[in-house]
Amino acid sequence: MYPYVYHPSIWHPRSMRAYTLGEWGSSGEDPTLIQDIAKAISGQYNAISCYEKLARLAPTEEERRQIMEIRQDEINHYREFCQIYIRLTGKQPQITAEPCPDDYQEGLEFALKDEQKTVDFYLDIADKTRDPSIKKAFTRAAHDEQNHAVWFLYFWTKHGRCRCKQT
Ligand SMILES: [Fe+2]
Ligand SMILES: [Fe+2]
Repeated sequence: MYPYVYHPSIWHPRSMRAYTLGEWGSSGEDPTLIQDIAKAISGQYNAISCYEKLARLAPTEEERRQIMEIRQDEINHYREFCQIYIRLTGKQPQITAEPCPDDYQEGLEFALKDEQKTVDFYLDIADKTRDPSIKKAFTRAAHDEQNHAVWFLYFWTKHGRCRCKQT
């Protein structure tokens, strides 16, 4: 029996994805790009649920509203990336649920780091693709994520400072 790391297609839950990736090469896009788009969709889905939690933890109405606006951007990204993915593959993307902190301050730090990483990741996707509509979607989303990172950094800094003053 082959170790499944070389033949993921049969044993692993992700196998169907790995298997079909071969076929998707015919869409003209690099299979690794399709995998990246699937990863981006999963990340968007997790951000949407994480930011809902963060919004509930927000101490002020202003922050809650801003986080809900960011969440709306993530919903738009999610929809747009799903459309791209379905167009390329004819399949629904698979989501992998990821944890999100229960504490507001930790959640802000988690979110701002994630947003920063996502900027680079989306710009890489934009560089890799030959499809102008994918390039545009990911470049625009990267700008949004950069803006989100600044908001989260602002809230994180503000609360970090408040906490210092109290002690
Ligand atoms: Fe996003
Ligand atoms: Fe974002």
